[in-house]
Amino acid sequence: MNNYSYQFYGRRKGRGYKRFNQQMLKFNNFDFFLKPHDLNKYSSFSNNILEIGFGNAENLINISKKYSNISFIAADPYLNSCFKLCKVLTKHKLKNVKIWADDIREIIKLFPENIFDLILILHPDPWPKNKHKKRRLVQQYFIDFLARILKKNGKILLSSDENNMKSWILEQFHVRQDFEWYVKNVNICNKKPFCLVNSKYSKKAISVGNKINWFVYRKL
Ligand SMILES: C[S@@+](CC[C@H](N)C(=O)[O-])C[C@H]1O[C@@H](n2cnc3c(N)ncnc32)[C@H](O)[C@@H]1O
Repeated sequence: MNNYSYQFYGRRKGRGYKRFNQQMLKFNNFDFFLKPHDLNKYSSFSNNILEIGFGNAENLINISKKYSNISFIAADPYLNSCFKLCKVLTKHKLKNVKIWADDIREIIKLFPENIFDLILILHPDPWPKNKHKKRRLVQQYFIDFLARILKKNGKILLSSDENNMKSWILEQFHVRQDFEWYVKNVNICNKKPFCLVNSKYSKKAISVGNKINWFVYRKL
């Protein structure tokens, strides 16, 4: 594994955090959060999906409701989003999702190898300025981590509406020998995969006229 260093630059808490935190006490008996010592279990599950940066969790909720046989790990350091997700998981009695309420890079090295069929990174924070490019999540060392935890033929699905980020994703994966760009057809990159719904974030992007692209990479 390469040497690397990183720092988290996004928000961890927003308005309403205290309220969410208090409400969480009501859910004390529920086992929402991923515990590092449970990670080995995932090697024995047949279908696992990791979503990194789930935000308002529109996609996570939609897919996990439809496929109760798939186990999901959902990571986001923004605590308001994590608390909101706990409420939805409780409401819909969804037992197949575990939340990592922190930077994914804090735990990714502890995941067993070759466990995920799919990794979703939808609209990663774009950090559009060139001087902030080191803050972008998708970096070579990070793709090394993803490669280790994906199964052979497993896929990474990324999306963005920000042009610098789109080029960045293409550049970062272009140099990889361990991934192939699964869908090179531009028309398909312009089309939302059928399994996804529009999130609040993507709806906002569309409303200001931004074009969203989707990129799928397959681990060789
Ligand atoms: C622009 S939002 C997109 C949210 C959602 N995926 C969507 O498509 O609507 C990016 C999300 O990534 C999360 N995020 C940023 N850095 C992260 C990291 N290192 N690990 C996990 N999540 C991260 C942020 O907290 C935020 O919720």
